[in-house]
Amino acid sequence: MTSGTKITSEHIRTLKGRGRLAALTAYDYPMTRLLDETGVPLLLVGDSLGMVVLGYPDTTRVTMDEMVHHVRACARAKPNALLVGDLPYHSYETPEQAVSNAQRLIAAGAEAVKAEGGQEILAQVQAIHGGGIPFVGHLGMLPQHVLEEGGYHIKGRKDEEHARLLADAEALTTAGAFAIVLELVTPPVAAEITNKISIPTIGIGSGPDCDGQILVTHDLVGTFPWFTPRFVKPKLQTAANIKAAVQEWMRDLEK
Ligand code: KIV
Repeated sequence: MTSGTKITSEHIRTLKGRGRLAALTAYDYPMTRLLDETGVPLLLVGDSLGMVVLGYPDTTRVTMDEMVHHVRACARAKPNALLVGDLPYHSYETPEQAVSNAQRLIAAGAEAVKAEGGQEILAQVQAIHGGGIPFVGHLGMLPQHVLEEGGYHIKGRKDEEHARLLADAEALTTAGAFAIVLELVTPPVAAEITNKISIPTIGIGSGPDCDGQILVTHDLVGTFPWFTPRFVKPKLQTAANIKAAVQEWMRDLEK
């Protein structure tokens, strides 16, 4: 539990090696408030909002304006959790663009930003960090590249992927990231990265040996029943409960 203490990126960094860094996504005011009341220390306004809130087929169409709108809503909940905002696809093509868009998310109420990629975005990461904005990396399967890659593929099986992931994680750490999300990385490679770098890894579908875990909240609580990733066991059947409640209410109207 956060017990009323405001969580900072420095605090998240201290959770390295302790295996209990929980993180969830949030996209609006009520869910941010509810999740914050549980004491979860990190909330990500992820660009997954494109899929689970806005109805896009993937995250590639999410815009900066949409991210800013949802970050603002979440920030109104004034969470104790650290509020991280995602930089959407094509919003960090150059260091200048990355800093300017990261500043927009910060002005909207984010306290840190996340972007997908490793050494290919190092200049952007250095510029964001150099501008005093806390940065979270994202390696492994990069959803913003789903169209080029032709699907959501597990990373780290091939030797060159394994070597690249390690080098990317080390480069992001040196560039100033305070944590790195590892998405769909093979569990042994995720464990190796976790042991090698000095900042927390936050896994999603990457096995149990990361410093923390993150999930899309809709997957955990069952509010997006049309697709659930294989590695998630929903804790609630919210969609079925909503339908049952509405049907009961409609039956009541007929009485
Ligand atoms: O956009 C998102 O929700 C994410 C998480 C899945 C890590 O990047």
